[in-house]
Amino acid sequence: MKKYSVPKNFQSSVGYNTFDNYQSLREKAKQDSNSYWESVAKRIDWFDKWTTVNNSDYSKAHIEWFSNGKLNASYNCIDRHIENGLGEKIALIWQSNDPTISKNVSYNDLLEKVSLFANGLKRAGIKKGDRVCIYMQMIPEAIVAMLACARIGAVHSVVFGAFSSDALKNRINDSECKLLITQDNGVRGLKFDIPMKENADKIADDCPSLKTVVMVERSGNEMFMKEGRDITWNQFIDGCSSKCPAEVMDAEDPLFILYTSGSTGKPKGVMHTTGGYLVYTSHTHELVFDYHQDDVYWCTADIGWITGHSYIVYGPLSNAVTQVIFEGVPNYPDFGRFWQIVEQHKVNVFYTAPTALRALMKEGDDWVTKYDLSSLKVLGTVGEPIKSPEWHWYFNVIGNEQCPIVDTWWQTETGGILMSPIPGCVPTKPGSATLPLPGIIPAILDEEGNEITERNTTGYLVMIQSWPGQMRTVYGDHQRFIDTYFSQAPGNYFTGDGAYIDEDGYFWITGRVDDVLNVSGHRIGTAEVEGAIGAASGVAEAAVIGYSHEIKGEGIYAFVTLMTGVEASAEIEQDILSTVTKIIGPHAKPSVIQFCSGLPKTRSGKIMRRILKKIAQNETDDLGDTSTLADPSVIDSLLEK
Ligand code: PRX
Repeated sequence: MKKYSVPKNFQSSVGYNTFDNYQSLREKAKQDSNSYWESVAKRIDWFDKWTTVNNSDYSKAHIEWFSNGKLNASYNCIDRHIENGLGEKIALIWQSNDPTISKNVSYNDLLEKVSLFANGLKRAGIKKGDRVCIYMQMIPEAIVAMLACARIGAVHSVVFGAFSSDALKNRINDSECKLLITQDNGVRGLKFDIPMKENADKIADDCPSLKTVVMVERSGNEMFMKEGRDITWNQFIDGCSSKCPAEVMDAEDPLFILYTSGSTGKPKGVMHTTGGYLVYTSHTHELVFDYHQDDVYWCTADIGWITGHSYIVYGPLSNAVTQVIFEGVPNYPDFGRFWQIVEQHKVNVFYTAPTALRALMKEGDDWVTKYDLSSLKVLGTVGEPIKSPEWHWYFNVIGNEQCPIVDTWWQTETGGILMSPIPGCVPTKPGSATLPLPGIIPAILDEEGNEITERNTTGYLVMIQSWPGQMRTVYGDHQRFIDTYFSQAPGNYFTGDGAYIDEDGYFWITGRVDDVLNVSGHRIGTAEVEGAIGAASGVAEAAVIGYSHEIKGEGIYAFVTLMTGVEASAEIEQDILSTVTKIIGPHAKPSVIQFCSGLPKTRSGKIMRRILKKIAQNETDDLGDTSTLADPSVIDSLLEK
């Protein structure tokens, strides 16, 4: 595999700018992890210093960093920049779905907006430790709401705006949110009326903990407002003071909960705390994106996912970034939208998902070359492996061979990036997230938990040591935290990913080793989708498999058996799709539905997914060992289709 050295004109300035520097820092961090993290932690402002750097113990599934340190995340993301004379600096360049509309929000503006809303929350009875749900699209108020929660010590739980009302309800109820912040309608691409408030209305009465629904007027459409429960954003802050001192939080006080899919049906409430998370996101944002004070940064993620939390809100804002936040979609009004925005706002650092690159690459280079992209310096990707064709397109066509590509590997659970080339230091290889950041110690284990030291041999990716951004627990279910992450390979954090190390020590992620799919960079549990399909009328059983999909990376292939007497039909197929949309959201809809008379099962009733995978991938010449099947004739009927 060809190695790409650091582009000649690229100058890193964040610290160590040669590969040798990187190696020696990595070694130093390994030898004395506490000193390393202590020096990193000084980058943010603490009201009180910690007494111990790292109190984590993997053998007890206990994660604790910067014990007894006191700080506030909102203060670090806003106030301290103003105190440092950056009040007039632009924090957010909001680019509306409408290409003609953009709005700047300075750090001074942000402080005022956050303080007003924080006081609104207090007036509504929200106290430190209470949970607040945020169900919004990419509008500045979403970020204001998150920071306002952090300011008063409320714990936000952001639910991705495309999730259905059922999914919203389950998340609100799981963490007993008292207040929901939403907007009348979402506005994205050609959809001007995504029913956000209506979705909330459908379920609000089924959420016993929910007392208040705050609604931003984005579309201005007339909405139903329930007396005593619903209030517009403007009414909510009306009469509030624009001064709100930041609550003193302990390093280990929860900052947020973010639900993510696991291998069992119910999504997990991943909980992150204040000190370690903020230190980690702030540090990695600067390091991985080689962030300079006068850069314009743009991460195209949505705040509904961890990338939005860590690399739109907490990492960048704690570094006093100027960043674009984008309400729209890459193909509206045309396929040049991303590049038009890069030109318009002179974006220097651009961070996106491989799935978006694949979709845009297929539309041809003319959408790119008509724009001036010479401002770009660093190009990043996240969420799934970036394969060679889109890597080269990104490097050659978007970056004009001048920009290092940072393929960042991490997870909702890790809080921030664990593996990525550091621009200016680490030569890249298309498709590899290259090497761990200093202080991160991965290993590859075999089935028995022994370390695989041979090169190019795939095993389970684990971390043998904690880092500050690591999740602390599954909200309300610590046992699930232990079972999911610390039981497979006791003494290590189990990532759920497979990986191997090549001859240069570079890591290659081979994908999930559990029943979790990665569809367009969105993490979806097969069990969740199977449960949703099972709720459609006439369905007896479903098995969901991921298969290679040209644009989505992984597509959802559903094998469905119907109740006796029910015939497969286009209506049933449609009903399955709408049931999945209703229970989870449109992003979880299967791309292929195959009706079958039975599923391949072992004698003990376990579905043999390995066989289904081969069928979904059209690799039917060799289905492997089928001798343990309870009913081998099932295979013939599956292949007939
Ligand atoms: O399988 C890995 C894949 O995405 C999973 C984490 O998903 P999520 O928690 O939703 O977070 C996505 C954004 C951080 C991982 O277990 N993944 C993420 N980044 C990469 C990746 N796979 C390969 N290369 C990556 N750069």
